[in-house]
Amino acid sequence: MDKIVIEGGVPLRGSVDVSGAKNAALPVLAAALLAEGEHEVRNVPDLADVRTLGKLLGHMGAEVARAEADRRTVRLRVPAAVTPEAPYELVKTMRASVLVLGPLLARWGKARVSLPGGCAIGARPIDQHLKALTALGAEIRLEHGYVNATVPRGRLRGTVFTFDAQTVTGTENVMMAAALAEGETVLRNCAREPEVKDLGDALVAMGALVEGAGTDEIWIEGVPSLRPLSHAVIPDRIEAGTFLVAGALPGNDVTVRGCVAAHQEALVEKLRAVGAEVTKVEGGLRVVGDGRPRPVDVRTAPHPGFPTDMQAQLMVLLCLADGTSRITETVFENRFMHVQELIRLGAHVEVDGRVAMVKGVPELSGAPVMASDLRASAALVLAGLAASGTTEVLRVYHLDRGYERIEEKLAPLGARIRRVRG
Ligand code: EPZ
Repeated sequence: MDKIVIEGGVPLRGSVDVSGAKNAALPVLAAALLAEGEHEVRNVPDLADVRTLGKLLGHMGAEVARAEADRRTVRLRVPAAVTPEAPYELVKTMRASVLVLGPLLARWGKARVSLPGGCAIGARPIDQHLKALTALGAEIRLEHGYVNATVPRGRLRGTVFTFDAQTVTGTENVMMAAALAEGETVLRNCAREPEVKDLGDALVAMGALVEGAGTDEIWIEGVPSLRPLSHAVIPDRIEAGTFLVAGALPGNDVTVRGCVAAHQEALVEKLRAVGAEVTKVEGGLRVVGDGRPRPVDVRTAPHPGFPTDMQAQLMVLLCLADGTSRITETVFENRFMHVQELIRLGAHVEVDGRVAMVKGVPELSGAPVMASDLRASAALVLAGLAASGTTEVLRVYHLDRGYERIEEKLAPLGARIRRVRG
């Protein structure tokens, strides 16, 4: 297993480019199942999770390959019929595989998709996905760890459905199902993340009739068929946010190019509250970490609230603040796995249920630490950059799920960071 070794305490200076959004690319690639033919998805990051979804689509009978001319472009050839199943071996490594469920039911009225199971950060149920698909006319049986779904009447039928919980992939799954359903669907209490809006734009480019994606109410008029996809996914706001936090660490000055300022409002508000200087520049945002951060309280929430995917990264900054901060994680039940590792680096953090009290210290000191999940591992890299001495982040396969060669992006900023193949 690879590890990342960092000699911390070196000021970061310069610009870094943001890749395409993992959490936009995954639903958009799944949406290709909705139409036979040759699809093109651009600005797709080269990540483990994207490769896993490509393997799954290949298993189902689609041909998936990166374009020679531009490695960020993925081309897919989707046949008239596919094997409508997502096996446990693939789904267990990437729960977003559940996103093939909606397209399979919409196009072929049949799907056998492994239940994703839980993960490090929480139970991650998909009850809302299944409830909504049932409302659209799917018949769903859970057997031997699989979702066995059929559409007895042949074609899904539009309906009005209100989610009990705001779910990003739940909203996305049902949008894709409704796109080919008969009649009108109104979805309420939808997730409002920018990646949901991006999927809506991709579906409209395929000929779907979708309005309101990115708001909490989405209207869809089903159509008989869709045309192949041609779409560029949005920049990754969480990768961008991770680099913005790097810029806010004491003594750093980082320009994040290609990030969408409108996607960063909740984070930028917190970075300014801790005392970082954030300015809009040509094509991105510049962050200067001016001295020791001030403490700030934060509460994660669905978009447009503070993103849960940025909680671990912000905690690193608050570990260095000149006071105590309260971090409340309202979205997932176990998303403080990074805390014990930050304590090994000298942080003072106490967790009580969904609340972490972070008592700032003047500096962190390097040590070997263990990644546990994707965003926790990004936080450990940030901590290593800020700590004095050497930090080794182990199990970086977690990191590679959502960050495209992060060490190659940070090194030009002056970071003394390298990957050791294990
Ligand atoms: C998406 O996961 C993201 N993944 C996650 O990013 C992100 O943390 C999460 O949204 C929240 O923003 C992708 O988009 C591929 P949810 P998702 O369904 O859709 C509950 C990363 O680091 N819930 O919005 O699985 C659930 O338990 C990953 O890139 C139900 O109760 O998250 C959770 O408490 C991690 N029933 C809350 O909703 C359901 O049917 C939000 O989950 C579905 C969800």
